[in-house]
Amino acid sequence: MRENFFSLRTVMWEEGTVKMIDQTALPQRLVYKSYDSWEGVADAIRRMVVRGAPAIGVAAAMGVALAADRSHAEDRDQLLKEIERAAEGLRKTRPTAVNLFWGIDRVVAVARKSGPTVSGIRDSTVAEAKKMAEEDVEANKRLGAFGAGLLEDGDVVMTQCNAGALATVGYGTALGVIRAAREAGRCVKVIVNETRPALQGSRLTAFELVRDGFHCTLISDTAVGYMMSSGRVDKVIVGADRITRDGYVFNKIGTYQVAVLAERHAVPFYVAAPRSTFDLERTHDQIVIEERAYDEVVRVKGRRIAPKGVPVANPAFDKTPPDLVAGIVTDLGLIPRPVAESLQATIG
Ligand code: MRU
Repeated sequence: MRENFFSLRTVMWEEGTVKMIDQTALPQRLVYKSYDSWEGVADAIRRMVVRGAPAIGVAAAMGVALAADRSHAEDRDQLLKEIERAAEGLRKTRPTAVNLFWGIDRVVAVARKSGPTVSGIRDSTVAEAKKMAEEDVEANKRLGAFGAGLLEDGDVVMTQCNAGALATVGYGTALGVIRAAREAGRCVKVIVNETRPALQGSRLTAFELVRDGFHCTLISDTAVGYMMSSGRVDKVIVGADRITRDGYVFNKIGTYQVAVLAERHAVPFYVAAPRSTFDLERTHDQIVIEERAYDEVVRVKGRRIAPKGVPVANPAFDKTPPDLVAGIVTDLGLIPRPVAESLQATIG
């Protein structure tokens, strides 16, 4: 076990800038980029320099704080207008993960409440964004502690996409549960689905797990059914981008097919997500699934792998209905099956 191993910190506020791991450079290079404008942060979210629902929530909150901190506004009204403009721009970056909107709204609300001085608003927005980063890591650790009991010594756990330290400020949600199980002395092996087309599984989850000394095996997405049917998977645990009040889980594309296969092979399918990922105002039919660039599908590492002119669909997320979910681990406790009915009692 590597207790003192330097843990990844994905998003931070440093000397008046937002500093983030550049996830587009992984796994080849672990490098940080610093941003000094909200427009820069918005671009980083759009291009997935930073990605993962909790990480983009905190990055966007820090983007709003940057707008306040760098502003030359001379009075409260002008500063609030600039903050609203930054918030509006950041809201347009990605549509599916609710954490993005939650992060922005929280900092904007603090700005509106503070005052009357410009410096008071600046300080309180920066303080709020920094606090959110700390709370994220704490929430993930609490969530991990609630979920660790679901994993037994010797379990082989499959995961989709990256719901680790890189998808959060630190520690992770689905991978946080796996970390917590290891900290409790259990040996858990992980099967990492590569997660085409953006390859968050092979590029990021495998990077994180190898770096932190976990036993993991990378598979292609097309091997999921075979691995389950041959009895090589004990449990599935994934993160989420949004969980609606009717219990639908929006997560990285491919999650739904993993859940269907898990049901077919009697493999429990768990979801791990903090309170900020729940959207109790909406039901599943009201959510926009992000459609990303055609190039992600027709190219691998810049090289074209499909003929010119072929029509492409590239939905970045899918939705898993509640009846396929064995339980949702949150920082407030475990939501048991049937999750749609139990949801309010834990997080309402
Ligand atoms: O497109 P991405 O990489 O931002 O999608 C991320 C996911 O789908 C994660 O599984 C989800 O955000 C949970 S992260 C704790």
